[in-house]
Amino acid sequence: MTKAVVLGAAGGIGQPLSLLLKTSPLISELSLYDIVNTPGVAADLSHIDTPAKVEGYLPPDDGLGKALKGADIVVIPAGVPRKPGMTRDDLFKINAGIVRDLATGIAKVAPKAFVLVISNPVNSTVPIVAEVFKQHNVFDPKRIFGVTTLDVVRASTFVAEKIGDLSVAPAVSIPVVGGHSGVTIVPLLSQSSHPLPANLTEDDIKALTNRVQYGGDEVVKAKDGAGSATLSMAYAGAEFAAKLLRAIKGEKGIVAPTFVHLTADEGGKKVQQEIEAPLDFFSARVELGASGVEKILPIGKISSYEQTLLKAAVPELKANIEKGVSFVQAPK
Ligand code: NAI
Repeated sequence: MTKAVVLGAAGGIGQPLSLLLKTSPLISELSLYDIVNTPGVAADLSHIDTPAKVEGYLPPDDGLGKALKGADIVVIPAGVPRKPGMTRDDLFKINAGIVRDLATGIAKVAPKAFVLVISNPVNSTVPIVAEVFKQHNVFDPKRIFGVTTLDVVRASTFVAEKIGDLSVAPAVSIPVVGGHSGVTIVPLLSQSSHPLPANLTEDDIKALTNRVQYGGDEVVKAKDGAGSATLSMAYAGAEFAAKLLRAIKGEKGIVAPTFVHLTADEGGKKVQQEIEAPLDFFSARVELGASGVEKILPIGKISSYEQTLLKAAVPELKANIEKGVSFVQAPK
Protein backbone atom coordinates (compact mmCIF):
# COMPACT_ATOMS: atom_id res chain seq x y z
CA MET A 1 0.00 0.00 0.00
CA THR A 2 1.53 3.29 -1.02
CA LYS A 3 -0.12 6.65 -0.57
CA ALA A 4 1.01 9.55 -2.76
CA VAL A 5 -0.07 13.14 -2.16
CA VAL A 6 0.11 16.05 -4.59
CA LEU A 7 0.08 19.55 -3.06
CA GLY A 8 -0.94 22.07 -5.73
CA ALA A 9 -2.80 19.32 -7.59
CA ALA A 10 -5.20 21.56 -9.52
CA GLY A 11 -2.46 23.53 -11.28
CA GLY A 12 -0.79 23.36 -14.67
CA ILE A 13 1.70 20.78 -13.41
CA GLY A 14 -0.48 19.34 -10.67
CA GLN A 15 -3.24 18.03 -12.95
CA PRO A 16 -1.17 16.12 -15.52
CA LEU A 17 1.18 14.94 -12.75
CA SER A 18 -1.80 13.60 -10.80
CA LEU A 19 -3.01 11.90 -13.98
CA LEU A 20 0.34 10.17 -14.45
CA LEU A 21 0.48 9.12 -10.79
CA LYS A 22 -3.07 7.75 -11.07
CA THR A 23 -1.85 5.48 -13.88
CA SER A 24 1.07 4.19 -11.79
CA PRO A 25 0.69 0.60 -10.59
CA LEU A 26 2.98 1.51 -7.68
CA ILE A 27 0.41 3.79 -6.03
CA SER A 28 -2.69 2.54 -4.19
CA GLU A 29 -3.97 5.84 -2.81
CA LEU A 30 -3.69 9.31 -4.34
CA SER A 31 -4.63 12.43 -2.38
CA LEU A 32 -4.98 15.76 -4.16
CA TYR A 33 -4.73 19.04 -2.27
CA ASP A 34 -4.97 22.59 -3.60
CA ILE A 35 -6.61 25.85 -2.58
CA VAL A 36 -9.04 25.40 -5.52
CA ASN A 37 -10.70 22.78 -7.74
CA THR A 38 -9.39 19.50 -6.26
CA PRO A 39 -12.87 17.93 -5.82
CA GLY A 40 -13.38 18.20 -9.57
CA VAL A 41 -9.93 16.97 -10.51
CA ALA A 42 -10.26 14.05 -8.09
CA ALA A 43 -13.74 13.09 -9.35
CA ASP A 44 -12.45 13.16 -12.92
CA LEU A 45 -9.38 11.03 -12.20
CA SER A 46 -11.33 8.61 -10.01
CA HIS A 47 -13.12 7.25 -13.11
CA ILE A 48 -9.86 5.94 -14.58
CA ASP A 49 -9.69 2.16 -14.29
CA THR A 50 -6.43 1.89 -12.38
CA PRO A 51 -6.03 0.74 -8.74
CA ALA A 52 -5.25 4.05 -7.00
CA LYS A 53 -8.10 5.41 -4.88
CA VAL A 54 -8.32 9.18 -5.48
CA GLU A 55 -9.50 11.85 -3.06
CA GLY A 56 -9.51 15.66 -3.36
CA TYR A 57 -9.14 18.13 -0.49
CA LEU A 58 -9.46 21.90 -0.06
CA PRO A 59 -8.20 24.02 2.89
CA PRO A 60 -11.41 24.11 5.04
CA ASP A 61 -11.78 21.52 7.84
CA ASP A 62 -8.06 20.76 7.89
CA GLY A 63 -8.03 19.55 4.28
CA LEU A 64 -4.23 19.65 4.23
CA GLY A 65 -3.97 17.43 7.30
CA LYS A 66 -6.52 14.98 5.91
CA ALA A 67 -4.76 14.84 2.54
CA LEU A 68 -1.40 14.20 4.18
CA LYS A 69 -2.52 11.58 6.71
CA GLY A 70 -0.59 8.36 6.10
CA ALA A 71 1.36 9.79 3.16
CA ASP A 72 4.38 7.83 1.93
CA ILE A 73 5.38 10.31 -0.75
CA VAL A 74 4.42 13.97 -1.12
CA VAL A 75 5.01 15.89 -4.34
CA ILE A 76 4.81 19.70 -4.21
CA PRO A 77 4.08 21.64 -7.42
CA ALA A 78 2.17 24.40 -5.55
CA GLY A 79 2.95 28.02 -6.27
CA VAL A 80 3.11 30.56 -9.06
CA PRO A 81 5.01 29.90 -12.31
CA ARG A 82 7.15 32.33 -14.32
CA LYS A 83 5.95 34.82 -16.90
CA PRO A 84 8.19 36.10 -19.72
CA GLY A 85 11.14 38.11 -18.37
CA MET A 86 11.01 36.54 -14.91
CA THR A 87 13.76 34.45 -13.32
CA ARG A 88 12.92 31.60 -10.95
CA ASP A 89 14.25 33.75 -8.13
CA ASP A 90 11.53 36.32 -8.88
CA LEU A 91 9.03 33.71 -7.67
CA PHE A 92 10.62 33.49 -4.23
CA LYS A 93 8.42 36.11 -2.58
CA ILE A 94 5.21 34.16 -3.15
CA ASN A 95 6.37 30.56 -3.33
CA ALA A 96 8.64 30.63 -0.25
CA GLY A 97 5.66 31.20 2.05
CA ILE A 98 3.52 28.60 0.27
CA VAL A 99 6.24 25.95 0.54
CA ARG A 100 6.98 26.83 4.18
CA ASP A 101 3.32 26.39 5.13
CA LEU A 102 2.94 23.12 3.24
CA ALA A 103 6.19 21.81 4.75
CA THR A 104 4.85 22.66 8.22
CA GLY A 105 1.79 20.53 7.47
CA ILE A 106 3.98 17.63 6.34
CA ALA A 107 6.26 17.94 9.39
CA LYS A 108 3.23 17.71 11.69
CA VAL A 109 1.20 15.01 9.93
CA ALA A 110 3.54 12.93 7.76
CA PRO A 111 7.09 13.56 8.99
CA LYS A 112 8.35 10.26 7.57
CA ALA A 113 7.08 10.88 4.05
CA PHE A 114 9.48 11.36 1.15
CA VAL A 115 9.11 14.96 -0.02
CA LEU A 116 9.63 15.88 -3.67
CA VAL A 117 9.81 19.63 -4.24
CA ILE A 118 8.93 21.00 -7.68
CA SER A 119 7.93 24.57 -6.69
CA ASN A 120 10.50 27.14 -7.80
CA PRO A 121 13.03 28.41 -7.03
CA VAL A 122 14.00 24.82 -6.16
CA ASN A 123 17.48 25.99 -5.03
CA SER A 124 15.73 27.89 -2.22
CA THR A 125 12.48 25.98 -1.63
CA VAL A 126 14.29 22.72 -0.78
CA PRO A 127 16.34 24.46 1.96
CA ILE A 128 13.05 25.95 3.22
CA VAL A 129 11.53 22.46 3.62
CA ALA A 130 14.71 21.27 5.38
CA GLU A 131 14.67 24.22 7.81
CA VAL A 132 10.99 23.76 8.63
CA PHE A 133 11.64 20.06 9.31
CA LYS A 134 14.61 20.98 11.55
CA GLN A 135 12.37 23.33 13.53
CA HIS A 136 9.97 20.43 14.10
CA ASN A 137 12.82 18.01 14.90
CA VAL A 138 11.89 15.70 12.03
CA PHE A 139 14.65 16.55 9.55
CA ASP A 140 15.98 13.53 7.67
CA PRO A 141 18.20 14.60 4.74
CA LYS A 142 17.64 11.25 3.05
CA ARG A 143 13.97 12.06 2.49
CA ILE A 144 13.91 15.52 0.93
CA PHE A 145 14.46 15.90 -2.82
CA GLY A 146 14.46 18.84 -5.20
CA VAL A 147 13.09 17.60 -8.52
CA THR A 148 15.60 18.53 -11.22
CA THR A 149 14.54 15.72 -13.56
CA LEU A 150 13.22 18.12 -16.20
CA ASP A 151 16.78 19.33 -16.81
CA VAL A 152 17.86 15.71 -17.29
CA VAL A 153 14.93 14.99 -19.60
CA ARG A 154 15.72 18.10 -21.67
CA ALA A 155 19.39 17.13 -21.92
CA SER A 156 18.46 13.66 -23.21
CA THR A 157 16.06 15.10 -25.77
CA PHE A 158 18.37 17.83 -27.06
CA VAL A 159 21.32 15.43 -27.35
CA ALA A 160 19.17 12.87 -29.18
CA GLU A 161 18.16 15.67 -31.58
CA LYS A 162 21.85 16.40 -32.22
CA ILE A 163 22.50 12.70 -32.77
CA GLY A 164 19.67 12.96 -35.30
CA ASP A 165 17.59 10.14 -33.84
CA LEU A 166 14.88 10.94 -31.28
CA SER A 167 14.21 7.23 -30.85
CA VAL A 168 17.38 6.99 -28.73
CA ALA A 169 16.23 9.83 -26.42
CA PRO A 170 14.84 7.58 -23.65
CA ALA A 171 18.17 5.73 -23.46
CA VAL A 172 20.39 8.82 -23.58
CA SER A 173 21.60 9.63 -20.10
CA ILE A 174 23.33 12.93 -19.28
CA PRO A 175 23.99 13.77 -15.63
CA VAL A 176 22.86 17.32 -14.85
CA VAL A 177 24.35 18.59 -11.59
CA GLY A 178 24.46 21.81 -9.55
CA GLY A 179 21.02 23.31 -9.08
CA HIS A 180 17.85 24.17 -10.95
CA SER A 181 18.11 27.67 -12.40
CA GLY A 182 20.17 29.29 -15.15
CA VAL A 183 23.90 29.02 -14.53
CA THR A 184 23.43 26.60 -11.64
CA ILE A 185 22.21 23.97 -14.12
CA VAL A 186 25.35 22.11 -15.20
CA PRO A 187 24.80 19.41 -17.82
CA LEU A 188 27.79 17.06 -18.03
CA LEU A 189 27.74 16.39 -21.76
CA SER A 190 31.21 14.84 -21.49
CA GLN A 191 29.59 12.01 -19.51
CA SER A 192 26.87 11.32 -22.09
CA SER A 193 25.92 7.65 -22.31
CA HIS A 194 25.85 8.08 -26.10
CA PRO A 195 28.80 9.62 -27.95
CA LEU A 196 28.01 13.10 -29.25
CA PRO A 197 28.38 13.54 -33.03
CA ALA A 198 32.09 13.95 -33.84
CA ASN A 199 31.49 17.11 -35.86
CA LEU A 200 30.18 19.08 -32.84
CA THR A 201 32.43 22.11 -32.28
CA GLU A 202 33.21 23.71 -28.94
CA ASP A 203 30.66 26.39 -29.80
CA ASP A 204 28.06 23.71 -30.49
CA ILE A 205 28.72 22.21 -27.03
CA LYS A 206 28.33 25.65 -25.48
CA ALA A 207 25.07 26.24 -27.35
CA LEU A 208 23.75 22.84 -26.30
CA THR A 209 24.72 23.51 -22.68
CA ASN A 210 23.01 26.88 -22.83
CA ARG A 211 19.87 25.29 -24.26
CA VAL A 212 19.66 22.86 -21.31
CA GLN A 213 20.28 25.72 -18.86
CA TYR A 214 17.66 27.98 -20.40
CA GLY A 215 15.28 25.40 -21.94
CA GLY A 216 12.61 26.57 -19.51
CA ASP A 217 12.75 30.04 -21.07
CA GLU A 218 11.85 28.59 -24.49
CA VAL A 219 8.61 27.31 -23.00
CA VAL A 220 7.88 30.47 -21.00
CA LYS A 221 8.35 32.53 -24.17
CA ALA A 222 6.26 30.24 -26.36
CA LYS A 223 3.43 30.20 -23.79
CA ASP A 224 3.56 33.99 -23.91
CA GLY A 225 2.27 34.80 -20.44
CA ALA A 226 0.30 31.59 -19.88
CA GLY A 227 2.93 30.05 -17.60
CA SER A 228 5.99 27.81 -17.76
CA ALA A 229 6.63 24.14 -18.47
CA THR A 230 3.76 22.03 -17.16
CA LEU A 231 3.36 18.92 -19.32
CA SER A 232 7.07 18.11 -19.63
CA MET A 233 7.43 18.88 -15.92
CA ALA A 234 4.56 16.57 -15.03
CA TYR A 235 6.26 13.84 -17.07
CA ALA A 236 9.60 14.51 -15.36
CA GLY A 237 8.02 14.62 -11.89
CA ALA A 238 6.22 11.33 -12.48
CA GLU A 239 9.46 9.77 -13.76
CA PHE A 240 11.35 10.76 -10.64
CA ALA A 241 8.50 9.66 -8.36
CA ALA A 242 8.39 6.27 -10.12
CA LYS A 243 12.13 5.80 -9.66
CA LEU A 244 11.88 6.60 -5.97
CA LEU A 245 8.85 4.32 -5.50
CA ARG A 246 10.67 1.45 -7.21
CA ALA A 247 13.71 2.04 -4.99
CA ILE A 248 11.58 2.19 -1.83
CA LYS A 249 10.08 -1.15 -2.82
CA GLY A 250 13.54 -2.69 -2.93
CA GLU A 251 14.83 -2.30 -6.49
CA LYS A 252 18.59 -1.69 -6.44
CA GLY A 253 20.88 0.44 -8.56
CA ILE A 254 18.42 3.22 -9.50
CA VAL A 255 20.37 6.44 -9.99
CA ALA A 256 18.97 9.91 -10.69
CA PRO A 257 20.30 13.44 -10.33
CA THR A 258 18.38 15.32 -7.63
CA PHE A 259 18.90 18.36 -5.39
CA VAL A 260 19.68 16.99 -1.93
CA HIS A 261 21.28 17.91 1.39
CA LEU A 262 24.87 16.78 1.12
CA THR A 263 24.88 15.29 4.63
CA ALA A 264 22.39 12.67 3.43
CA ASP A 265 25.29 10.34 2.73
CA GLU A 266 29.09 10.19 3.18
CA GLY A 267 29.44 10.70 -0.58
CA GLY A 268 28.31 14.30 -0.11
CA LYS A 269 31.72 15.17 1.33
CA LYS A 270 33.44 13.98 -1.83
CA VAL A 271 31.11 16.20 -3.90
CA GLN A 272 31.99 19.18 -1.66
CA GLN A 273 35.68 18.47 -2.33
CA GLU A 274 35.04 18.22 -6.06
CA ILE A 275 33.26 21.58 -6.18
CA GLU A 276 35.73 23.06 -3.67
CA ALA A 277 32.86 24.57 -1.68
CA PRO A 278 31.10 23.58 1.55
CA LEU A 279 27.60 23.87 0.02
CA ASP A 280 24.89 22.13 2.04
CA PHE A 281 22.71 21.39 -0.98
CA PHE A 282 23.62 20.28 -4.47
CA SER A 283 22.05 18.38 -7.31
CA ALA A 284 24.18 15.28 -7.55
CA ARG A 285 23.70 11.85 -9.00
CA VAL A 286 22.01 9.94 -6.22
CA GLU A 287 21.48 6.22 -5.87
CA LEU A 288 17.99 5.79 -4.46
CA GLY A 289 17.11 3.14 -1.90
CA ALA A 290 14.59 2.01 0.70
CA SER A 291 15.31 4.99 2.94
CA GLY A 292 15.54 7.55 0.14
CA VAL A 293 19.08 8.72 -0.54
CA GLU A 294 21.16 5.53 -0.54
CA LYS A 295 24.37 6.98 -1.90
CA ILE A 296 25.52 10.36 -3.19
CA LEU A 297 27.78 9.64 -6.14
CA PRO A 298 30.82 11.73 -7.03
CA ILE A 299 30.72 14.11 -9.99
CA GLY A 300 33.67 12.28 -11.50
CA LYS A 301 35.77 13.25 -14.47
CA ILE A 302 34.51 16.31 -16.34
CA SER A 303 35.85 18.57 -19.09
CA SER A 304 37.62 21.84 -18.34
CA TYR A 305 34.61 23.70 -19.81
CA GLU A 306 32.34 21.90 -17.35
CA GLN A 307 34.72 22.84 -14.55
CA THR A 308 34.25 26.51 -15.41
CA LEU A 309 30.47 25.99 -15.44
CA LEU A 310 30.62 24.47 -11.94
CA LYS A 311 32.74 27.36 -10.68
CA ALA A 312 30.14 29.81 -11.98
CA ALA A 313 27.30 27.82 -10.40
CA VAL A 314 28.66 27.73 -6.85
CA PRO A 315 28.25 31.42 -5.79
CA GLU A 316 24.68 31.61 -7.11
CA LEU A 317 23.76 28.30 -5.51
CA LYS A 318 25.22 29.48 -2.22
CA ALA A 319 23.14 32.69 -2.34
CA ASN A 320 19.95 30.81 -3.29
CA ILE A 321 20.43 28.30 -0.46
CA GLU A 322 21.14 31.02 2.11
CA LYS A 323 18.03 32.90 0.99
CA GLY A 324 15.87 29.84 1.68
CA VAL A 325 17.51 29.10 5.03
CA SER A 326 17.21 32.65 6.33
CA PHE A 327 13.58 32.90 5.17
CA VAL A 328 12.78 30.30 7.84
CA GLN A 329 15.46 31.08 10.43
CA ALA A 330 15.18 34.86 10.41
CA PRO A 331 11.92 35.87 8.72
CA LYS A 332 11.75 39.60 7.95
P1 NAI B 1 0.03 26.89 -11.67
O1 NAI B 1 -0.23 28.27 -11.25
O2 NAI B 1 -0.61 26.39 -12.90
O3 NAI B 1 -0.39 25.89 -10.49
C1 NAI B 1 0.00 26.08 -9.18
C2 NAI B 1 -1.09 25.53 -8.29
O4 NAI B 1 -0.68 25.74 -6.94
C3 NAI B 1 -2.45 26.23 -8.47
O5 NAI B 1 -3.45 25.28 -8.71
C4 NAI B 1 -2.65 26.95 -7.15
O6 NAI B 1 -4.01 27.02 -6.76
C5 NAI B 1 -1.85 26.05 -6.21
N1 NAI B 1 -1.52 26.71 -4.95
C6 NAI B 1 -1.18 28.00 -4.71
N2 NAI B 1 -1.01 28.19 -3.40
C7 NAI B 1 -1.22 27.00 -2.80
C8 NAI B 1 -1.20 26.57 -1.45
N3 NAI B 1 -0.91 27.40 -0.45
N4 NAI B 1 -1.48 25.27 -1.20
C9 NAI B 1 -1.77 24.42 -2.19
N5 NAI B 1 -1.81 24.78 -3.49
C10 NAI B 1 -1.54 26.05 -3.78
O7 NAI B 1 1.62 26.69 -11.75
P2 NAI B 1 2.44 25.50 -12.43
O8 NAI B 1 2.73 25.83 -13.83
O9 NAI B 1 1.76 24.22 -12.10
O10 NAI B 1 3.85 25.61 -11.62
C11 NAI B 1 3.93 25.28 -10.26
C12 NAI B 1 5.33 25.50 -9.74
O11 NAI B 1 6.25 24.59 -10.35
C13 NAI B 1 5.90 26.90 -10.03
O12 NAI B 1 6.58 27.35 -8.89
C14 NAI B 1 6.87 26.65 -11.16
O13 NAI B 1 7.89 27.63 -11.21
C15 NAI B 1 7.40 25.29 -10.78
N6 NAI B 1 8.09 24.57 -11.85
C16 NAI B 1 9.15 23.77 -11.51
C17 NAI B 1 9.85 23.08 -12.45
C18 NAI B 1 11.01 22.22 -12.05
O14 NAI B 1 11.72 21.75 -12.93
N7 NAI B 1 11.23 21.93 -10.77
C19 NAI B 1 9.50 23.18 -13.88
C20 NAI B 1 8.36 23.99 -14.14
C21 NAI B 1 7.70 24.69 -13.15
